[in-house]
Amino acid sequence: MARTSSFAPLEQGELKVVPTHVAIIMDGNGRWARARGVPRVAGHRAGARNLRRVLRDVIELGIKVLTVYAFSTENWRRPEREVRALLSLFGRMIDNELDELKRNGVRIRHVGRTERLSPQLVKKIRYAEQVTQENDRLILNVAFNYGGRAELVDAVRRIVAEGLAPEQIDEQTIAEHLYTAGMPDPDLIIRTGGEMRLSNFLLWQGAYAEFYVTPTFWPDFDREELLKALLDYQNRQRRFGGLPSQQG
Ligand code: IPE
Ligand code: IPE
Ligand code: MG
Repeated sequence: MARTSSFAPLEQGELKVVPTHVAIIMDGNGRWARARGVPRVAGHRAGARNLRRVLRDVIELGIKVLTVYAFSTENWRRPEREVRALLSLFGRMIDNELDELKRNGVRIRHVGRTERLSPQLVKKIRYAEQVTQENDRLILNVAFNYGGRAELVDAVRRIVAEGLAPEQIDEQTIAEHLYTAGMPDPDLIIRTGGEMRLSNFLLWQGAYAEFYVTPTFWPDFDREELLKALLDYQNRQRRFGGLPSQQG
C-alpha cells in the first residue's frame, strides 16, 4: 500500500496524460557537489544513483521511452579526471544495473558515437543492448558521447554512402538514419539544473517537444519533481503548427 499512497497525485486522478517519450538533460551534478563541498565526481555518483530511482518511477508511470543525456560530445572538453570518472561510471552502471533492468522489462539502447570510447566499454554497451533487446516495457536510450549535430552528420554520411538520389531524400529518410530510428520523437524534454538551453540534445527529434526546466539539480530530482513536470506537461496545448483542436 505504501507504494500507491506515495503516488498520491495518480490516485487523485490528477495525472491523466502520460507522455510516451520523455527525455531528460540530467544537469547540475557539479553544482550539487559544490553546494555540499564535495568533489564534482561525487555529484556524478549521486546523479547515477538518482537515475536508478527515477527509472523505477518512469516504469511505474507507464512511460514507454526514456532518453537520458549522460555525456555530450562537448563534455570531452572537461578535465581528463572528470571525463575518466564519467566513462567509468557509465561502465559501472551497466555492470550493477543490467540484471535488474533486464528483469524489469527495460530495453537498453545507446544513442551516440562509440568513437573515443574504449573497446571494453563498447563491448559492455553492446552486450547490454543485446541481452535486453526483447524487452518492451520501457526503452531506455542512454545518450552517451551524444551530440545532435554529430548525429546529423552521421546520418548524412550514411545517406550519401547508400547512394540515395537527392529527390529520394525527405524528412523520413533523415529520421530513419538517426540513432533513434524507429522511435517516436520526445513529447517532453526535461532539463534539471536551471539552464534554458538544449546543449546539442535531440536537435532533430525535439522539434515539437514540450520543454520543462527546473532549477533542481539532477541528484535531487525525485518522484515528486517528475510528477510536477508531468502535470505541467499535461496542461500544455500542443499544436504542431496547426490551430487548437476546438477551433478546427
Ligand atoms: C551534468 O552535470 C552531467 C554531465 C554533463 C556529464 P554537470 O557536470 O554539467 O553539472 P553542472 O552543470 O556543472 O552543475
Ligand atoms: C548537458 O549539460 C549535457 C549533459 C547533461 C550530459 P552540460 O553541463 O554539458 O551543458 P552546458 O555546457 O551547460 O551547455
Ligand atoms: Mg552542466
